[in-house]
Formats: sequence, structure tokens, C-alpha cells
Amino acid sequence: MTATAEVEPAAEPRGEYMLELDDVGKSYGNVHALRGVNIRVRQGEVTCVLGDNGAGKSTLIKIIAGLHQHTDGVMRVEGKETKFNSPREAQARGIATVYQDLALAPLMSVWRNFFLGNEIRKGVALDVAEMKRIAGEELEKMGIVIPDMDRPVGSLSGGQRQVIAIARAVYFGAKVVILDEPTAALGVKQSGVVLKYIVKMRDAGLGVIFITHNPHHAYLVGSHFVILKLGRVVLDAHRDELTLDQLTGEMAGGQELAELSHELRAVDPGKTVEGHEVRHGSVGSPTVDSGSGEDAGSDDEKA
Ligand SMILES: Nc1ncnc2c1ncn2[C@@H]1O[C@H](COP(=O)(O)OP(=O)(O)OP(=O)(O)O)[C@@H](O)[C@H]1O
Ligand SMILES: [Mg+2]
Repeated sequence: MTATAEVEPAAEPRGEYMLELDDVGKSYGNVHALRGVNIRVRQGEVTCVLGDNGAGKSTLIKIIAGLHQHTDGVMRVEGKETKFNSPREAQARGIATVYQDLALAPLMSVWRNFFLGNEIRKGVALDVAEMKRIAGEELEKMGIVIPDMDRPVGSLSGGQRQVIAIARAVYFGAKVVILDEPTAALGVKQSGVVLKYIVKMRDAGLGVIFITHNPHHAYLVGSHFVILKLGRVVLDAHRDELTLDQLTGEMAGGQELAELSHELRAVDPGKTVEGHEVRHGSVGSPTVDSGSGEDAGSDDEKA
């Protein structure tokens, strides 16, 4: 990925914080969406942020991406205290966000999407040939070959679309890339495609923030794990301090799962309930397999 060569500040020591949140909080009126959040994002690392619905993940990204401002605490970008007034300001400081749905304009072509807002011109006219060439090259570096750059993005697979959004962010100089649930709507194969690019970005020296519900995906690529619950950090651990089982258990909320399992077992399949026979499978298996729910898509399309 030579596009990132100029992005990676080779002189800086690895492990330097790209982004620091110190005791950051966010209130919407009297709703405390986030409280006392401490997060460190290093270059060359994947920081995974996990949490259930309403945990505060989107709120956290919005603060970092410049859509909202925190109401408490301090955010530092490359050591400098920062409060962004707009997403443009965040982008100018090298923070790119790839949103699940809003990443690209489905009716526009691949090259148009790639250069949206950053078009190359030759005089007053768009330099279409040059933009197609660069977009094609950048995607090829990511291992995605799209023969027709005029194809509308909406006709591509979900995994390919994510990769286009990622390649674009990297090409335009991102130092920190935030991915908001990039694998949530994808099947196994396409999730694999996206997870590979997360690793590529990490190895190119970027700081990656990977938001997900799925501890399995997080553990495959993550260097560092933060779990949010009701706006607070309930776990913050480096990969060496944590096994996949622990992460899965923490995500599922061990105690809550045990209770759920108990409740489900009370409805014993095969037993008679209110005089009717309950067939096997009709109440669902009491096996609680956390994390696999989001990714049950059967999207097998090749990327
Ligand atoms: N604009 C807003 N105004 C008021 N409350 C909000 C606003 N945005 C979020 N909240 C509240 O803040 C809390 C955290 O929401 P947030 O969207 O950050 O959660 P999340 O972890 O992204 O959840 P999900 O997994 O469902 O996307 C929730 O209680 C939510 O209702
Ligand atoms: Mg969210």
C-alpha cells in the first residue's frame, strides 16, 4: 500500500498515541450517553470497541469524527487537545470514518465515489481518465479488481463497498480510520474481506478503531479491546490479557446469560405446555451462542 507510505510518520516511535480520550463524557440534555471514557489509540494497532445496543458506541465515534462534541473530559489528537467543530476538521487532522450505510453514494460510479469531494481537474473539466486510473490502482492494491470503474457502487457487494470506502480514506491521508460495524451486515466471506483490510491498515501503521458487536471478529484482528456498557467502559484490555472466551463472556454479560439460559431451560422442548405438545425447535434452543447472531447472513457472493 504505497498510498500510505507518506502517511506513516516513520520517524515517530511506534506506540505513540494518535488519539487519547481522558475521562470523556457526553450528555444529550439529561441523557448521559457516555461517562468517564478513557481510550488510547496507537498507530499500528486495532482498537476494538464493543458493546450492546445503546452502549454509546455511535456517540463515541461521533465525538472523534467531529459530528458531536464531548461535554466532559479531554480529547487529544497526536498530543494536542482538540474539540472538533465539524467532520471536515476531523478529516483535516487525519481522522476518517467509514460508516456502514452512508459510506458511498450507490447510484454513482466507483471512481466518482472514490474522488467525491476531492475531484481532480484538468483546467475546469474533471480529469476522469486520471481519476479512473488512480481509483483502479488503489483498489488493486487492496486486492479488489473492478474491471469497469463506471459501474455504480450500488451494484457491488457489501464487502467491496466497504473496501472502496477504506481505500479512499487511506489514499486521502487518514492516520486514524474508524469503522462503524463494517461487518454487521456481511456474510462470512465478505466479513473476511473487510477483516483483511483492517489488518492491512494496521500493518501500514494506521490507527484503526473497529466498532463491532461481534467478539469473534474483534478477536481475529484486535490489538486492544474496550467494552462499553451503558456509556461506561467496563473492560479495557490488551490482547495478551484476554482470551476469546473471556471477551465473548464479557460481551455477552456472563451473569445475564446465565439467567437467560436458566429461563430458557424452564421452557423445556418436548414437554407439554398448556396442554399442547411443544415440538423440538419451536421454542429455540437454549444454547446461548453469543455474537453469532449479527453475522448469520448467507451472502456468499465473491468479492
Ligand atoms: N441525539 C441524541 N439525543 C438523545 N439521546 C441520544 C442521542 N443519541 C444517542 N442517544 C442516547 O445515548 C445512548 C447511547 O447511544 P448510541 O447510539 O451511542 O449507542 P450505540 O452503542 O451506538 O448503540 P447501537 O449498537 O444500537 O448502535 C442511548 O441511550 C441513546 O438513546
Ligand atoms: Mg450505534
